[in-house]
Amino acid sequence: VSALRKPTESPRTAPVTVALLGTGTVGSALLARWSHLQAEGRLSDLRLCYVANSRYSWRARAGLGAADLSLQRGDADTLCAERLSTVLPAGSIVVDATASDAVAALHSRWLAAGLAVATANKAGAGGELWNFRAIHAHARRYGDSATVGAGLPLLRSLRELRRGGDRILGIAGVLSGSLAWLFDRYDGMRPFSVLVREARALGYTEPDPRLDLSGQDVKRKLLILARNAGHALEAEAVEVESLLPADLAAAAPEDLDSALSALDAPLRKRFRAAHRIGRRLRFLARLDEHGKARVGLEVLTADDPLCAGRGCDNRVALWSSRYRQQPLLIQGPGAGAEVTAAALLDDVLRLAHPTEA
Ligand SMILES: NC(=O)c1ccc[n+]([C@@H]2O[C@H](COP(=O)([O-])OP(=O)(O)OC[C@H]3O[C@@H](n4cnc5c(N)ncnc54)[C@H](OP(=O)(O)O)[C@@H]3O)[C@@H](O)[C@H]2O)c1
Repeated sequence: VSALRKPTESPRTAPVTVALLGTGTVGSALLARWSHLQAEGRLSDLRLCYVANSRYSWRARAGLGAADLSLQRGDADTLCAERLSTVLPAGSIVVDATASDAVAALHSRWLAAGLAVATANKAGAGGELWNFRAIHAHARRYGDSATVGAGLPLLRSLRELRRGGDRILGIAGVLSGSLAWLFDRYDGMRPFSVLVREARALGYTEPDPRLDLSGQDVKRKLLILARNAGHALEAEAVEVESLLPADLAAAAPEDLDSALSALDAPLRKRFRAAHRIGRRLRFLARLDEHGKARVGLEVLTADDPLCAGRGCDNRVALWSSRYRQQPLLIQGPGAGAEVTAAALLDDVLRLAHPTEA
């Protein structure tokens, strides 16, 4: 009997190599969290060996810490993302904390080469359908919890419901932290453009807030949710209502600040029309049972659950075979560097220990 008993200790394995692309808002927060968890001895089987942004790269076989990156400038010849699959050992994890389409286009190539990917960048699974399909073929080695809801258990719940035999009958929600904040604050009195400037100063919007206001970021999130709900949607299949008047959409970056006031009159009109009948404005993403997907401004009753939540909270309702009448509601902070970095690192830990997942 004792000869058949499994060993009580798992054999020691080599540390898993991790490469980080992007040292901006999310990448820096990830490095800070990495240092913190490392000091607690929680990352002893991981080695952060490569870090790169679009200008520099840092490499060290023995592992890098945040201090190495701040003390010494990296190599000016950046570690080309395209070469990663040739320099990293199989089983390594690439963390994409960029907003680069070019980097996202490499996700499927890295996966096919035996690497794992953890990403906050939505341009992979939320971009072209062919790229989503190529990524999805290696779903077990793809960590995407930071792409929608910054780690809120949205994609996880969707997948668990489907694994349990449910069909997804609908999804509706506020998927943008910045737009949640703007419409939570907007009272029709202060000009909307003033709030946009405030949100930008607080770091809630992208540096160019048109990326949020155009609905394109929400569209990518809805595509990720819809495809994971089983709908093979082409990127163009989502109907998007942009909040940008034509002049603002076309404004040069140096004219952006003054061009923002083009938002004020049309939004005041929509706010007043909703207010007159006791309703509220919210920027929502919706998917129905048949895969019809829409992103845009909606008028909701004040007691609608999608009106709840504060600040930058995301809130999403999921209808499925078992949640037919009353949806499953998921709400919480769905934006911000810290929660996004935490979600990315959770994925890294899961990918490094796949059997424990
Ligand atoms: N900020 C948030 O709260 C939040 C929340 C959820 C998801 N996200 C997503 O997380 C991602 C990162 O957002 P962020 O706010 O951190 O953006 P960011 O501050 O603009 O940082 C982007 C980083 O990517 C680097 N980069 C660009 N192209 C690269 C390339 N080819 N190779 C290596 N590095 C490259 C940039 O390099 P340089 O430093 O040289 O410019 C920069 O360090 C985005 O996809 C965003 O949508 C962000």
